[in-house]
Amino acid sequence: MTGGRNPVKIQPTIPNVRGLLHHRPITSRYVSTLWQVSSQYPPERDSVPPEIDITRSHPARTWDYYLGGKDNFAADRLVADQVIAAWPGMRVSARENRKFIGRAVTYLAGEAGIDQFLDIGSGLPTANNVHEVAQAINPAARVVYTDNDPLVLVHARALLTSSPEGACAYLRGDLREPAEILNDPATRKTLDFTRPIALILAAVVHFLLPEDEPRRIIETLVDALPSGSYGGASHGSTEYGNQEEADAVVRIIAASGVRIAPRDSHDFGRLVFDGLELVAPGVVLLPEWRPLPDGGPRPGAREVGRNAGVARKP
Ligand SMILES: C[S@@+](CC[C@H](N)C(=O)[O-])C[C@H]1O[C@@H](n2cnc3c(N)ncnc32)[C@H](O)[C@@H]1O
Repeated sequence: MTGGRNPVKIQPTIPNVRGLLHHRPITSRYVSTLWQVSSQYPPERDSVPPEIDITRSHPARTWDYYLGGKDNFAADRLVADQVIAAWPGMRVSARENRKFIGRAVTYLAGEAGIDQFLDIGSGLPTANNVHEVAQAINPAARVVYTDNDPLVLVHARALLTSSPEGACAYLRGDLREPAEILNDPATRKTLDFTRPIALILAAVVHFLLPEDEPRRIIETLVDALPSGSYGGASHGSTEYGNQEEADAVVRIIAASGVRIAPRDSHDFGRLVFDGLELVAPGVVLLPEWRPLPDGGPRPGAREVGRNAGVARKP
């Protein structure tokens, strides 16, 4: 169906397609383009647990798609492809983010001697998950993974298996309810809050909007950690790129029902690391955080568009 004259039905299984209409004039040509696009993304229905809504995109699954994973659905790919079209750096940025997590956890488990990790917004299992990196250095390392996507829990339970000496726990939790994560029996059983813990917030804080009171959330988490604990985080920024690209990405994601708040390096640093001692080199573009000597060429700021840092609680 390509002509504008035929009656157009938007596939009911991908309702977020309707959301895309918010920011564009509704012309029959545009609707017919959407129809063609949605027809290229037929939904899957096999073996999906009932609590997982495959008709709406979700950040964990679009992120999986950016990273080249297979744990995503048509609705996720539809949104992700639009983001990539608006900002071709998206995939590079996602990969650089995973590399940052690897280097940060290597630093934390090695040089900093941390053997307990709380990873919030952990995402679907992929390469170099936190416990794999940490337990390669210290097999006794203990990790709690938390995410608000039920699919993450299903896959994490199946795939993220701990070394016999260490431990992994997985819980469905929302960063906006930090006390629930901290007080969850799985968290308490796995982590000893009298000893230093590393809090990992990779590419998740930008889901906190000003009305979520993000500083209160971060303070609740950091206050629960003993002295000598660490925070490692990364955050999307619009400071390096073209403002039009950035606005388009925020708009596409908003049309899918997910709101994000990019923050520049200054605001990110103040929000997440205030009161902590930043580890050198401070808050920097992802690939500039302790790059490996043999890590090859580093992508530029416009492609990466994301900052990161690690800090110690005094
Ligand atoms: C961009 S992905 C990052 C995944 C992983 N941390 C990484 O850096 O590769 C963001 C993850 O945060 C999760 N997320 C988003 N908002 C959240 C919230 N309020 N509470 C917990 N998890 C959240 C998403 O489900 C997704 O898995």
